[in-house]
Order: sequence, then C-alpha cells, then structure tokens
Amino acid sequence: MANVIIHHCPSLKLARERKETITDYSLVKISSFLSKYAKGKKYYIYTHGCQANYRDSEIFKGILTKIGFKESKDANHANVILINTCAVRENAENKVLGEIGNLKKKDVTLILAGCMAMEEVMVNELIKTFHHVDIILGTHDIAKLPNLLEEHLKKNKRIIEVNSGSGYIHERLPSVRDSSFKAFVNISYGCDKFCTYCIVPYTRGRERSRDPKDIINECKELVKQGYLEITLLGQNVDSYGKDLKKKYSFAKLLDEIAKLKIHRLSFLTSHPYDFSLEIIDVMKKHKNIQPYLHLPLQSGDDKILKLMGRKYDSKKYLSIIKVARKKMPDLFISTDIIVGFPNESDTQFKNTLKMVKSAQYDGAFTFIYSKRSGTPAAKMVDKISNQTKVKRFKELTSLLNQIIEKNNKKYLNKTYEVLVDSVSKNNPKALTGRMHNNKMINFNGSQKYVGKLVKVKVTSTHIHYLIGEMVK
Ligand code: SAH
Ligand code: SF4
Ligand code: F3S
Repeated sequence: MANVIIHHCPSLKLARERKETITDYSLVKISSFLSKYAKGKKYYIYTHGCQANYRDSEIFKGILTKIGFKESKDANHANVILINTCAVRENAENKVLGEIGNLKKKDVTLILAGCMAMEEVMVNELIKTFHHVDIILGTHDIAKLPNLLEEHLKKNKRIIEVNSGSGYIHERLPSVRDSSFKAFVNISYGCDKFCTYCIVPYTRGRERSRDPKDIINECKELVKQGYLEITLLGQNVDSYGKDLKKKYSFAKLLDEIAKLKIHRLSFLTSHPYDFSLEIIDVMKKHKNIQPYLHLPLQSGDDKILKLMGRKYDSKKYLSIIKVARKKMPDLFISTDIIVGFPNESDTQFKNTLKMVKSAQYDGAFTFIYSKRSGTPAAKMVDKISNQTKVKRFKELTSLLNQIIEKNNKKYLNKTYEVLVDSVSKNNPKALTGRMHNNKMINFNGSQKYVGKLVKVKVTSTHIHYLIGEMVK
C-alpha cells in the first residue's frame, strides 16, 4: 500500500449523518503546473447511471476543460480517462469493473468517480485489485479534482479522496453541457428517504436543496442561451425545500421556473409520499410544463412497500394517479418497479400486477432486486429463488408491454410537436425525438433538424417508441 495516499475513505455510517448544509460559492482554481501539464493532452469520460451522473459528468468536463485538456472522441487517444460510475444494482457495477479491466494502458491517468467510489467494500477491492486506478474521487469531492490530479502527478502515487456525509453544495463549478438545446438542472442533491433496498442515500448523502435563487438564475441563463428544454433533477423533487431555513415548496419552484418562458419544462423523480396535488395544478396552469409524471411504484403490495420503507400504500398511490389523470387526461405516467424484494410471495407479486392494471402506465422501468451491501434489506434472508424472480420479471414486463402498446394506439394518425434529439445510431436518415409529453418518436429527416421543433404525424407504434413522418 506504500504507493497509495489515502486522504479519506468512504463510510456508510458517516453517510447517514445529517450535517448542516453549506453552500460554497468559491471558484475552482487551476495551478500553472496543471495548465502546463494539460497542453496538447486529451480526456475521455465514461458515464454510467442516472441523470445526476450525466450532470456531474458535464461538471467534470468543465473542470478538465478549465485545466486545459481537450475532449477526445476516442478513449484510446486520451491521456486522462474518468469513469463516472453507478452503484444502484450489481450489474451496473460489473459493467464498470469490466471496463476498468480493459483500460490497463501505460501513460494514462485513470480516475474512478461516481457512486461506486462511495462504497466501503468496493473501494477496498479497487485499491487491492485494480492497481492502474490512479485516483478514486467521491461524489462530494468533485471540486477537488484539480488538486488531486496535481498531487498524483507530482508524487506519482495513487490517491483516494472520498468523503461520506458532506453537507456541501458547490455552486459555480465550471460545466460544459452536452446539448445546446436541452439541459438538466439540479434542484437538490442526495436523498433522505433511505428506502431499505437502495444505496443512493449512502452514495449521494443526505438531501440538500439548492437555494431557489441559484436554481432560478441557472434556468434564466439557459433561457437566455436559447435552450428549449429544462429537466429539473432531484432524487425526490417533491421534498424540495423542506430542509431550507426559509421553507420553499417544489410546487412554488416549478411555478416560478415555468414563468421564465422556457419552451419545455419537466422534472424527475417524484415520490408518492411527498407528492403534493398542488403540483398537478401548477402543471395544468403552465402550457410549457410537459404533461409527464414519473412516479415510481416499486411494489403494489402494502406489506412489501412497508418493508421497503416507502411510507405510502397502494391506496395513496392510486389516489394520486386518479386525481392526476382526471385533471390532466393527456398525462404520460411512467414508473419504476422492483421484482423479487426479499421473500416477496406469489400473492404479493400478483398485487403488483393488479396495481399495474389499475395505473395503466404509459412507460415503465422494471428491475430485479439487487442486494446492496450496507442497506437494511441486504440483511434480510431471502428464500425466493432467482428462477422465480426471473419468471415474475418476464410476467410483469409482458403485462406492461400489453398496456403500453394499447395506450400507444391513441396517438395514431395525430400530429404532435417534436423536439428532435439526434440522428438514429443505426440509420443516418432517421431522427429520434420527444413529443410534448416526453414520448419517444422516430421518423425520417435530415440532420439539420437536430435541436429543432418539428411537427410529426404518428403512422405506427412500437412498444417503446412511436413511428411517424414529418409534416411541413
Ligand atoms: N430517486 C429515484 C431513483 C432511484 S434509482 C427514485 O426514488 O425513484 C432508480 C430506480 O432503481 C429506483 O426507482 C428503483 O426502482 C431501482 N432500484 C434502486 N435500488 C435497487 C435495488 N437494490 N435493486 C433493484 N432496483 C433498485
Ligand atoms: Fe433510493 Fe428511495 Fe431515495 Fe429513490 S427515494 S433514491 S429509491 S432511497
Ligand atoms: Fe446510480 Fe448513483 Fe444515480 S447509484 S442511479 S448514478 S445516484
């Protein structure tokens, strides 16, 4: 271990502790040593996980650009490689471990950042087995990247800097946004819900809401720059502002941002426990808020919901859906569901199927439960076989597909406004975009429409997207 400098190692215990939130407005400073080093050198970033990680990668790009590195389109030509990792399920981690294994190249500085860096067991394993990982950087330590890089280069040692349970919010970090027309804006960091299966509160820390002024200023700036779409991000947007000295609700924040006249506004993720029906009224009031609600169910069984620590029951969940659909008939509702929580019985699984039928989702992400070391659920002795879980998973996805396919029919032969996202990977003549309610749609068209609003008539449907043709 002589070759490793450990500043701080992760601690799941520390991650649970609530600290006072401190907003840091200081600017990142770059030394002349680093600027000189970066001349003519390139970086490459791998990003895994959720929107929070995508936004963090934009900050990493901002910092590396400020140092003086250029972005490389190809990892093989990069001098600095950063992997921004996700720890939410075991398969996400295995993908990253495979990636690290393939990156054993001399003369490359390899940095591991993101949620895997926040796990005690994982960091010990990385230190022991992956000697070519030069820097392990925690999710609260992003602003320290220049200092750590300099220390690594000067001392030629591996550096571990992972602080758990920080109460900091860093405003004014540099960032290079991936898109010039759609942007993610964080409204809060971390999560206070501690659902018993979930690692996120440990990897991202306790919930910290940004000052509404800072959020509104960032959105104003994006509108000024010509952005067409803003997605507000929080692990639980509905509890926004509850931790602020001067209480502020998410409904109010949404209302204020919608008034800034951004063309499209949406938000992720809602939590049924904290969700207030006032949000639906704000959505209805503003034409620029997308009729799109991502409301994770996780399970349709009340006893499992209790064991998951979700703090709502199926009745409360359905009542939200009912009111939302009544007030906004055009609303696109999607969800997350976990199959195979420890000891989930056949009847309990059937209750999830029942809920799915009642909710009539327009979209869904389904997962098989993955044991996360350090979470309360990891201690539960699970008697259900993996085979049973896979069988239930298939049954659930097949039901969801049927419902979604049926719901898709209502779009047929109608024309919608579409924000064109990109050219399709498989077909250079095909474009992919999002409708007013975030539904994905593919159609033929030229690259010049990327980032533009166009009208598309739906001609056929597929489970996960619609197919259409552009109308003039
Ligand atoms: N804050 C969001 C997103 C959390 S992670 C929310 O609360 O919805 C995204 C999804 O991953 C979760 O909604 C959940 O369905 C799933 N997930 C989280 N932990 C998991 C685990 N241990 N095994 C399987 N799926 C998990
Ligand atoms: Fe995880 Fe629950 Fe927080 Fe979502 S609300 S991030 S599932 S602990
Ligand atoms: Fe994954 Fe971390 Fe997001 S665990 S889902 S990248 S918050």
